[in-house]
Amino acid sequence: MNEIVRVPLGARGYDIHIGSGLIDRAGTLIAPLLGASGAVVVTDESVASLHLDRLSASLDQAGIAHRTIVLPPGEASKGLETLGRLLDDLLGAGLERSTAVIAFGGGVIGDLAGFAAAVALRGIPFIQVPTTLLAQVDSALGGKTGINSRHGKNLIGAFHQPRLVVSDVDLLDSLPVRQRRAGYAEVVKYGLIDRPDFFTWLEQEGAALLAGDSERLIRAIRTSCEAKAAIVAADEREAGARALLNLGHTFGHALEAETGFGDTLLHGEAVAIGMVMAFDLSVRLGLCPAADADRVRRHLAAVGLPVAPPRECRRPDALMAHMARDKKVADGRITFVLARGIGKAFVARDIDAAAAAAILAEAAAA
Ligand code: GLY
Repeated sequence: MNEIVRVPLGARGYDIHIGSGLIDRAGTLIAPLLGASGAVVVTDESVASLHLDRLSASLDQAGIAHRTIVLPPGEASKGLETLGRLLDDLLGAGLERSTAVIAFGGGVIGDLAGFAAAVALRGIPFIQVPTTLLAQVDSALGGKTGINSRHGKNLIGAFHQPRLVVSDVDLLDSLPVRQRRAGYAEVVKYGLIDRPDFFTWLEQEGAALLAGDSERLIRAIRTSCEAKAAIVAADEREAGARALLNLGHTFGHALEAETGFGDTLLHGEAVAIGMVMAFDLSVRLGLCPAADADRVRRHLAAVGLPVAPPRECRRPDALMAHMARDKKVADGRITFVLARGIGKAFVARDIDAAAAAAILAEAAAA
């Protein structure tokens, strides 16, 4: 089964291919988009050891001249130092305007290689071949690229849309189950934003999907990509509706910051807790039925995601301080994505900080 979702952005529009065994067909899918100067594959050591041979063979078969740059894995690579080395490597070997960067990895590689492609020679084409669930449903599409600064995550970046996304669900088999679950939180997010029927389907099928059922995975990734593509098409540069994609992220980023963006809490786990808090806040403000917040909490817990902050990041004052520094703060007000129910999310910029602090205090006391 090979599904195609279009991101309809006019001349910058592109297809997302989702299927099983696609890595072996990646060369055939990519070749029509390339010029004579070929491609540079940017990947990390973990992905390279598992899957690079197959991608390289597929590019060779399609006659795509390419070389590979392998970076250290992990969030530490998403900084100015690695970006500098990557750009040096890219430019050192005679990059041309038509040379494409193929980002082959998870969110770190996609964001970093995409940003390098955005700024090298003022922009060269890039293609995403995401290898994690989180990247296949979120970070590989939509064109946000960037790196971290010592002042915060993703503070240096550019919008640069890929020319193609190739998502092979078979690559998810080698992902640790914790990583798969963390990516699943972003899948649930789309149901909660504006696809209530999808959320109902996930309540029934989520466990099987997480156990590795390809058909269900492909359907979930396709629906997630359709949901994100529609929002990105309406608001590519996050002037309005795209902020809906930050559901769970205001609380979530504060929790991640408090744990030092380490292994205590993966991004998707922080988003899961953040979505529960966003629904709790919506209930507290009289906007959302308590039964809907219960469903969100129950489903996330049922698939093994955390729904309350770990003991070491329960200090409400510290979390409020992180939120006040979030890059989504506008005119001194914290932006929240709240909900009037499942599938009825909206962006709220005038929320009383005391109500958010009360949710954090409740979580700390639980
Ligand atoms: N991950 C949120 C966005 O792409 O806007």
